[in-house]
Amino acid sequence: MDTTNISAIIDKYNGEASALIQILLDIQNDLHWLPREALELVSERLGVPMSRIQHTATFYKAFSLVPKGRHEINVCVGTACHVRGANRVLEVVQNITGIQPGETDADLKFSLETVNCLGCCALGPVMEIDEQHLGKLAPAMAADLLKGYQ
Ligand code: FES
Repeated sequence: MDTTNISAIIDKYNGEASALIQILLDIQNDLHWLPREALELVSERLGVPMSRIQHTATFYKAFSLVPKGRHEINVCVGTACHVRGANRVLEVVQNITGIQPGETDADLKFSLETVNCLGCCALGPVMEIDEQHLGKLAPAMAADLLKGYQ
């Protein structure tokens, strides 16, 4: 594994142990997951025990210890979105990506999750792709949007 980018991220924070969460977030954003080799390098460079790093990496939902797709899809299935057809949107997303919530496709293109609220209920049904909120979705719109991602 090429650790050049990981070293650069650690250097950006001067190897400060207090920046652990931000460093892990940057690595997660760069690689879309936290490989063990990356965590070992962070542990060594920051002087933070692996046990603490593992605890942090498993505590926050933003981190993944398995490879994630380049695009992370969150489909809201909360009450407000549910009554406006979230299940039909989810069905289309599942059909197009070929994955179920909690899965990542073999090409590492998409990861799919369901969530209970994205905080913009008036726009339901809502899904989020790479942290961009997409609201008032009809199933056909969701399908068109997904086709635009590489
Ligand atoms: S219930 Fe879907 S955004 Fe709140």
